[in-house]
Amino acid sequence: MTAHAIRASILHCVRDPGLAGDRCAIEHIRDAITLIDNGRIVAVAPAATLLPNLGADVLIDDQRDKLLLPGFIDTHVHYPQVDVIASYGAQLLDWLNTYTFPAETQFADRAHADAAATFFLDRLLENGTTTASVFCTVHPQSVDAFFSASEARGLRMIAGKCLMDRHAPDGLRDTATTGIAETRALIERWHGHARSLYAITPRFAATSTREQLKAMGQLALEFPSAYIQSHVAENKAEIAWIAELFPEYRSYLDVYDQFGLLRDRSIYAHCIYLDDADRARMTDCGATPAFCPTSNLFIGSGLYNLAQAVSAGNRVSLGSDVGGGTSYSMLRTLGEAYKIQQLQGVSLSPAYALYLATLGGARALSLDDRIGSMCVGKEADLVLLDPAATPLLARRTALRDDPLDTFFAMMTLGDDRAVAATYAGGQCVHRKMTVT
Ligand code: GUN
Ligand code: ZN
Repeated sequence: MTAHAIRASILHCVRDPGLAGDRCAIEHIRDAITLIDNGRIVAVAPAATLLPNLGADVLIDDQRDKLLLPGFIDTHVHYPQVDVIASYGAQLLDWLNTYTFPAETQFADRAHADAAATFFLDRLLENGTTTASVFCTVHPQSVDAFFSASEARGLRMIAGKCLMDRHAPDGLRDTATTGIAETRALIERWHGHARSLYAITPRFAATSTREQLKAMGQLALEFPSAYIQSHVAENKAEIAWIAELFPEYRSYLDVYDQFGLLRDRSIYAHCIYLDDADRARMTDCGATPAFCPTSNLFIGSGLYNLAQAVSAGNRVSLGSDVGGGTSYSMLRTLGEAYKIQQLQGVSLSPAYALYLATLGGARALSLDDRIGSMCVGKEADLVLLDPAATPLLARRTALRDDPLDTFFAMMTLGDDRAVAATYAGGQCVHRKMTVT
């Protein structure tokens, strides 16, 4: 395949800007050429510099009025919950029993899983999300459906089968033995296959026996490069239940820790009610808290204290958590993250917001050598944003000639309408339909 290029302004983080948003961590080039070959970024430079040196055979996609960013990274989302989004009137434990478990039961049917995976990936791509860490259901075929669909689109995705051997309805339980055997077979089939990566996926401590948790810890030792994903400290009733089920542990997080499920490449959604010792432990072992603002608001879980986590050294990342969350858009997710911090007296800087949705997510997943920025050599997973996508955005972004202010306006007012195109491994995998 010959090289091709996108001509657009670029905006990305070259390092962690810190919560206050050090602008030196941000690179912005007005009217740049991003040259892509064999799925990777091979050059990024001002058009005036690079254009004269481009071969005549290089196709250039001219998007000069738009902003090209690294593809967004969503570190916590459930693909089987496409029909659970916007479910009324419940908090976590009722919400699981009333809406979520019945919806997940349907994924025993491979055809249902295939259709849901296709629908879900279309939603991610129309929102500019190119990598996600994804919960499947307890059914191994739900994982096969997901990775088959994500590989067909050339995506870098992390996913895993939920393990649940108690406190779940018939049709959604495995056993300590079958859950591990199925997980092992899925790791061998998918981890490192094409761009797929596998996550050992205990749903949460309440739905696994000690026997199953122990077996997952052993499996994690056997496959050190596999991910681990779960939920922790999301909701007060959930935490009280965990304390009843596991009275001998110091904290909810400590349950996972003692079973060997806390380490680098482990992703823990929510983390709202961790204490100082838990936060220090997350930092020591390199686990990432996935901050899920729309979910935390929608199911009434609580306000995540981002500043506390960052100052404890946590590598925080950002999750949509659909179907608890209410949008696949990482722009909207950031907009709600901003409001949650405002309620706690902290203004999330646009630079740190950009970091959370891109390089910060990549670092949290130990994938920053491949994705998360637009440095030469990275995989060309990109999102093209249109600052004039709606009349309101056009008016607001015309006010100031500042790319971070433009990004802030887009995370406050934007969603899938602001995503003009999405690229995975350099290939265009979504282009917004425009009505003329
Ligand atoms: N805790 C256990 N399962 C779930 C889930 O599916 N969503 C959320 N938000 N929390 C959970
Ligand atoms: Zn979740």
